[in-house]
Amino acid sequence: MVIQKICCLGAGYVGGPTCSVIALKCPNIKVTVCDKSVERINQWNSDKLPIYEPGLDEVVEQCRGKNLFFSTNIAKSIQEADLIFISVNTPTKTFGNGKGRAADLKYIESAARMIADLATSNKIVVEKSTVPVKAAEIIMKILRANTKPGVEYQILSNPEFLAEGTAIVDLVEAERVLIGGEDTPEGQRAVQELCWVYEHWIPAKNILTTNTWSSELSKLAANAFLAQRISSINSLSAVCEATGADVSEVARAVGRDSRIGPKFLEASIGFGGSCFQKDILNLIYLCECLNLPEVAAYWQQVVSLNDYQKTRFTRKVIESLFNTVSDKKIAVLGFSFKKNTGDTRESPAIYVSNTLLDEGAKLHIYDPKVEHDQIYYELTHPYATSEPEKVRKNIEIHDTAYSAVTGAHAIVLCTEWDEFKELDFKKIYEVMMKPAYIFDGRKILDHEALQNIGFHVQTIGKRLARSGSIRAQGSQTMP
Ligand code: NAD
Ligand code: UDX
Repeated sequence: MVIQKICCLGAGYVGGPTCSVIALKCPNIKVTVCDKSVERINQWNSDKLPIYEPGLDEVVEQCRGKNLFFSTNIAKSIQEADLIFISVNTPTKTFGNGKGRAADLKYIESAARMIADLATSNKIVVEKSTVPVKAAEIIMKILRANTKPGVEYQILSNPEFLAEGTAIVDLVEAERVLIGGEDTPEGQRAVQELCWVYEHWIPAKNILTTNTWSSELSKLAANAFLAQRISSINSLSAVCEATGADVSEVARAVGRDSRIGPKFLEASIGFGGSCFQKDILNLIYLCECLNLPEVAAYWQQVVSLNDYQKTRFTRKVIESLFNTVSDKKIAVLGFSFKKNTGDTRESPAIYVSNTLLDEGAKLHIYDPKVEHDQIYYELTHPYATSEPEKVRKNIEIHDTAYSAVTGAHAIVLCTEWDEFKELDFKKIYEVMMKPAYIFDGRKILDHEALQNIGFHVQTIGKRLARSGSIRAQGSQTMP
């Protein structure tokens, strides 16, 4: 079979960009991205795409209506497709067995059932979502238990490694594409057919093939390793603050060892995003189910350290402001979980903001790309608070950093947006309450210059010479 038509179930952060790049690089393949959300599909078909991702608008503009389509007609797209990507969300379960750790596979299951109901010809079904090991078996069982006469399925695992904010470059210049399949002649043929799609632009040496279970586990493992590096450097940031070492210098020295490497050693207020925590928790649950408690405990520590880092930073803010932020105006700069995305899932800014709100602060929030409604949603939805109206009264969302900081006692920088480095801090100092504080949770500002202006500055992993932390009498020192 030569693949002529591809369908993708799930038009999210992965399905949208991935299929747009496939359409760009494979002009002879018709790619249809489907979602059950009419609103999301309407946005994909509009001038304002549902996600902000550098370079995505240009790719969509080039292909949409030619060989790239966004549709809610799931039945037609499944029926005509030779290959179907399942790219639906796999969130952490919020109730029942495995609550708080296991992946909720209900969307995967419903996608598999839709395919089983609607397919009338042979399909290669590709698991693109991140799933626990052996999830392909669930898809296989559902499809094969409901097979119509003459219809055959091959299930492949093809996890996605893109990072938000750099998704297009990550897809176009992928370091590796991973494809896992069944070790049968039919399974291997399906693997080769998916390889052929990627070989339109990815060098064959960058395409790795494995068995299905290795492919599924490699995705969880890759995210666990990356997150582990961040927790490792963040753990050392606490040691730096207590000793006078500088975490950036430590990272530079450690990362120079080619066995360790320099990337992903940036100390921060903690990692966020929809993947790291979810996927490690998923791995922990898997280990517990496999009766491997020591392995589960090992990975649990990566998540616990991340929680500690977020708490440590927020506590530092409160303690520095004389141990009370009640009724103080605090400017929060950056709300997305990293720069160059409008995504707020598991953003550390949410934890920081919630804690400051609990302490009675008035938050003035600015982010260059996050929609105002999204910020309100994150801070007021039922899981976040029992008093949404009260919280709403204490939040104001701004269209510029300058308006957010006017009259503020402190600036808390949560996301490393480039534009924050370019702000006129002399002008900002003039309009803030004194003493004026800056807490740089991303280590991106020029701390010495800020101190020369008059700011009291605190950051991660470095005790600044004139940190100006005036502690309230009796307040605790940082552990
Ligand atoms: P998302 O929430 O942005 O998108 C998922 C979409 O699937 C939603 O729009 C939802 O409406 C749709 N959907 C759910 N069930 C459906 C069904 N039966 N039919 C049609 N549409 C359906 O999620 P995402 O960030 O794109 O992540 C998708 C998967 O990819 C997850 O497993 C995630 O772990 C993995 N992943 C995400 C990233 C990332 O950076 N976001 C990177 C690598 C892997
Ligand atoms: C991650 C993986 O990088 C990607 O391969 C996978 O497919 C999905 O999960 P993503 O979550 O989009 O991608 O962004 P990433 O760049 O990994 O950043 C995750 C979080 O870690 C962000 O909050 C970021 O600010 C933080 N981070 C990253 C650090 O705190 N320090 C670092 O050195 C790197």
